Amino acid sequence: MRRALRLARRAEGEVGHYPLVGALVVKAGRVAGQGYFQLPGEPHAEVKAIAAAGTKARGATLVLNLEPCCHWGRTPPCTDTVIRAGIRRVVAGMTDPNPKVAGNGFRRLRQAGLEVVTPVLEPECRRLNEVFVKFITTRLPFVVLKVGATLDGKIATRAGESRWITGAAARREVHRLRAKADAVMVGAATVMRDDPELTARLGKKVRHPRPVVVDEALRISPRSRFLRPCPRKGKPIVATTRRAGPKRIRAFAAAGAEVLVLPQDRQGRVDVRAMMRALGEREIASVLLEGGAELNASMVAAGLVDKVIVFVAPKLLGGWKSRPMIGGQGPARLRKALPLSGLSARRVGEDLMLTAYVGARLAVPLPKKA
Ligand SMILES: NC(=O)c1ccc[n+]([C@@H]2O[C@H](COP(=O)([O-])OP(=O)(O)OC[C@H]3O[C@@H](n4cnc5c(N)ncnc54)[C@H](OP(=O)(O)O)[C@@H]3O)[C@@H](O)[C@H]2O)c1
Repeated sequence: MRRALRLARRAEGEVGHYPLVGALVVKAGRVAGQGYFQLPGEPHAEVKAIAAAGTKARGATLVLNLEPCCHWGRTPPCTDTVIRAGIRRVVAGMTDPNPKVAGNGFRRLRQAGLEVVTPVLEPECRRLNEVFVKFITTRLPFVVLKVGATLDGKIATRAGESRWITGAAARREVHRLRAKADAVMVGAATVMRDDPELTARLGKKVRHPRPVVVDEALRISPRSRFLRPCPRKGKPIVATTRRAGPKRIRAFAAAGAEVLVLPQDRQGRVDVRAMMRALGEREIASVLLEGGAELNASMVAAGLVDKVIVFVAPKLLGGWKSRPMIGGQGPARLRKALPLSGLSARRVGEDLMLTAYVGARLAVPLPKKA
């Protein structure tokens, strides 16, 4: 199963709202064929593994991290291929949360007389597909809030300076996170202050994520760097409201952006819930939320953040006026603090990378050997 997970991971950043799946056909203790799901529209992992195994698939065991599908999508049901190939035993990491499958694949295999062993390494399997699990069950993107902060939790000085709080290794890690995401989101003030490119600069060819900039009145410039042409997973998105006016909206459309004119929240800003639904409709399954403090606050308050990654630099900034990770009012009561779970830490260069999940409901349990 670990090998299947490793295979599946090869397509990270490429599958969008589809799952990452790796599969192996095992015969007499040897791998007779393997495959992973690479690109939407292509054959599924198990179909590739069975094809690679050829006649050796008869009587063999199929190991894969996700329940085989039993419905017609872009490709025929995989369960039929598995049964036809003469596979005797299926070892599957987890049930497919897609309501069209949800255990029906296993049922179909058992009805056909195959042995089904499941779940296996379920926490690892769920974690690998945390984006898919969220998207297929809610049609909303999985949101990772990413912050670069000082040890006292500040993301910018009182003058708004934030480049660079963390070191080169942490910044490289951020580019890796960007390469995996379908979209990277920032607030208007961050664009006006820093004019970020919002690309994944890894020194190799990647499709960059779609930038999403949240600006209810379109105060940012249509010449901002995130609008410059480059190979992206789709057009840059500007999320705004009627407050922007038709002339500004036209200017951004002419600059190559998809302009989403969305409802306003109570403060007249972009309604972030409506924004996330609109991104979901565009099949954006994962969003890396990169601040600033105000947008982070709106997204957290609306319950739209699933995972938090904080790069902590060994520096202190202090000051009431330097920017915190999350702005807004904050609750008066400690019991209103947002609980996180599955906290883990890793050293990245001179900084620490802290990862945690929001709440218990959406949390993917930590694997035993984290
Ligand atoms: N260290 C880090 O990881 C990091 C990351 C990003 C940014 N930063 C720093 O953070 C600072 C910018 O942060 P910031 O808090 O001032 O601004 P921000 O979150 O980048 O942008 C906030 C602005 O976005 C617009 N907006 C529209 N709808 C919104 C909604 N529903 N909720 C929140 N905002 C909405 C508003 O524009 P209007 O003003 O037009 O109302 C609001 O003022 C900069 O200094 C930047 O360098 C640091």
